Amino acid sequence: MGRLIIVSNRTPGKGPAAGGLAVALRKVLTEHEGFWFGWSGKLVEKPEPEAVFEDIEGLNVGKIDLTQHDHHAYYAGFSNSILWPSFHLRLDLATIEGHWYEGYRRVNAQFARALKPHIQADDVIWVHDYHLIPLATELRNLGARNRMGFYLHIPFPTVDALYAIPHHNELMRDLSRYDLVGMQAERDVTAFRDFADHQAPATLSGSPLRTVDFSNTEVKAFPIGSDPDAFAKLATTPAATKMVKRMQRLLEEQALILGVDRLDYSKGLPQRVEAYEKLLANNANFRRQVHLLQVAPPSRDSIKEYQETSDTLDAMVGRVMGHFAEPDWQPLTYVKRAYGQPSLAGLYRLARVGLVTPLRDGMNLVAHEFVACQDPEDPGVLVLSRFAGAAEIFEDALLVNPFDTDETAEALRLALQMPLDERRTRWETLMQAAKTHSVDNWAKHFLEQLTPADGGNKRPPVR
Ligand code: G6P
Repeated sequence: MGRLIIVSNRTPGKGPAAGGLAVALRKVLTEHEGFWFGWSGKLVEKPEPEAVFEDIEGLNVGKIDLTQHDHHAYYAGFSNSILWPSFHLRLDLATIEGHWYEGYRRVNAQFARALKPHIQADDVIWVHDYHLIPLATELRNLGARNRMGFYLHIPFPTVDALYAIPHHNELMRDLSRYDLVGMQAERDVTAFRDFADHQAPATLSGSPLRTVDFSNTEVKAFPIGSDPDAFAKLATTPAATKMVKRMQRLLEEQALILGVDRLDYSKGLPQRVEAYEKLLANNANFRRQVHLLQVAPPSRDSIKEYQETSDTLDAMVGRVMGHFAEPDWQPLTYVKRAYGQPSLAGLYRLARVGLVTPLRDGMNLVAHEFVACQDPEDPGVLVLSRFAGAAEIFEDALLVNPFDTDETAEALRLALQMPLDERRTRWETLMQAAKTHSVDNWAKHFLEQLTPADGGNKRPPVR
């Protein structure tokens, strides 16, 4: 295989601490010669057409600037107010402004123009996530015939949700320009096939849309993972235990329930707080015995729906505090900021319960990291949403329907009262799964599939 080029919206060092994408990919690129390409994080009036390359902690990273206007349409608009909510089946939270699509395509074309001069004939290009679906089309329009793979880090939508997205047929055609499309879970591949098999609905004018030809594109599930050995080590380092010791003093004998999520409506945070509220309301014996710590770094806060989720959560946390707190006991701590990996690793290890209950999630790496950080002698319990991709891997977690807060409250009770033997047996299976699905194996499998021994097809440029 030639060099590896990774393309994503954010480049290393720019992602929030709780987002798994940058952490996961950095490792892959250090093993393969090549570079990472993406947005610089800067908004300027007139972007330079050429990318600027710099060394970031040993990684060669090419970056381009964007205009405020294009970035708004591409990132806050089409990517995060249309694609993100639709792919997460939250059409009620989508803002369908069709004109954002032009900005989305303009930015993808700008990425392609700046990247093309740096591509060599045998380079392999690996594009990441929903911001950059049209990139293969744009690169092929400029004559690139390289092997190109696309990996979707978020769930793939059901056919109906897909049809609600303006220009969904063009987006599907864009996906067909890749040699390989990777998804997080089998459920996503099934949803994709559902579209491929039943496409061509009538348009408003009554004429059927042209069907998309997927005969040159392989679509497969490659569930992403973490680096479980590195996390296991990290959890006992002095940097991790520093925070843990202080927490232990504060908690005394209380069992810690831990949630770590970007402040995003897909994470089901209000439902989670409600489930905890029910646990305390229905089991008075747990009061003073448990403590919920929810870490939730703010995310995409220029978007109204994110501000509203934040406001809802503020009100709910206030309600639970007012109802259950005593002068000498607090039922929960809610922190709206990001923490570094060492502190998180320590907290995961200290927690008796890892509460990972998104309403829908591509994978959820917090579940992987929580498992990896447990003490094998006295492991905590993972309470996991059945709608996270991770549920296909971690069958021995306590799987819950996060919309059913009674069920989540009951799972919390079971987790808190689970005997040591059962905790150990479940954890061993979970840790084995985390190791099988490590980020190293994920990248290896994807790249093996993308670069077959015979070199695969060289695609003709798109007309
Ligand atoms: C999810 C997406 C990533 C994204 C991350 C953080 O994990 O799959 O592509 O980078 O969220 O979101 P942000 O909008 O801050 O990049």
